[in-house]
Amino acid sequence: MGAYKRIGILTSGGDCAGLNAVIRAVVHRASTYNWDVWGIQQATKGLMARPPQVVCLEPTEVDTLLTMGGTILGTTNKGNPFAYPMSDGSLSDRSNEIIEGYHLLGLDAMIGIGGDGSLAILRRLAQQGGINLVGIPKTIDNDIGITERAIGFDTAVNIATEALDRLHFTAASHSRVMILEVMGRDAGHIAISAGIAGGADVILIPEIPYTMESICQKLRSRQERGQNFCLIVVAEAVRTESGEPVTRQDADGTRRFEGIGHYLAERISACSGAETRVTVLGHVQRGGIPSPLDRLTAAAFGVAAVDLIAEEKYDHMVTWQNRQVVSVPIAEAIAQYSTVDPNGTLVKTARGLDICLGS
Ligand code: F6P
Repeated sequence: MGAYKRIGILTSGGDCAGLNAVIRAVVHRASTYNWDVWGIQQATKGLMARPPQVVCLEPTEVDTLLTMGGTILGTTNKGNPFAYPMSDGSLSDRSNEIIEGYHLLGLDAMIGIGGDGSLAILRRLAQQGGINLVGIPKTIDNDIGITERAIGFDTAVNIATEALDRLHFTAASHSRVMILEVMGRDAGHIAISAGIAGGADVILIPEIPYTMESICQKLRSRQERGQNFCLIVVAEAVRTESGEPVTRQDADGTRRFEGIGHYLAERISACSGAETRVTVLGHVQRGGIPSPLDRLTAAAFGVAAVDLIAEEKYDHMVTWQNRQVVSVPIAEAIAQYSTVDPNGTLVKTARGLDICLGS
């Protein structure tokens, strides 16, 4: 048994199902070493506050977290600490306040659960301020290249697949074209996985350019076979035919992907005369009870992250590779952004099933 440690844990970036299951696993594993775990609230904001905003996480209190959606610690995907938006509209570098917060708490190490953007920021803070950081990948987008799985992806795919299962019957009953718009940022992983699993007829992803003619040709060939309905899945970052992203502006000026489903609905009606309806699944994909696979991944990642701290193997992220959890340098992990491989197995599978990918 090594020396006593006090470890901090924070969740950063967009929430997803399975974050609380990771927190639970970390607390349980740390208790086997007789270490304490302090939960840092609202990502790095908790370390910026004075006094730093933390809660002591007791093993006896975390059991109900296994199935709970969201994150009990809170999170944010805004406010880069190196260019932090201040109330007067200026941007300020507040990195040293966060680093000071970590040291004020007397932490020996910190586990950061985040996507590529959050992990890049946490690593920069760690390098600058001597923070002993271990990373755990989470993102419904599954776009961190070095790991086959990130927390939250499987649940998001389950939810999108269930949506398709439900849309199937109403589409068939009304002979309609049903368009399901899913999240994923610039990667089409959710769209292609849920599209195949949910029996979509057309799957559009940012990685494969499409033409309206090929979609309408698919509708016509289904009609010729007496199939008067169609299920289309589109990833949020798919562009218009002329290559424009379809976005909506938030009150703070940030542009977010939203609206490609409605764009396609209009264009498909115009070219085929079909009756179209759109479902934008949105944040439903991030909420709710984590799938068994996400819980399992959360458990394995949580245990492995604490074990990395026991080995004092910092600046590493736990990853899932070849059916095992291994660790890789965080710098390597965030350098590899993963999109859907247009020549990969899932694309070949979709084409093999005669699913139209728009090209
Ligand atoms: O990265 C996760 C994600 O859910 C993306 O799929 C989506 O584009 C984005 O976050 C939405 O962000 P917000 O929660 O700020 O609307």
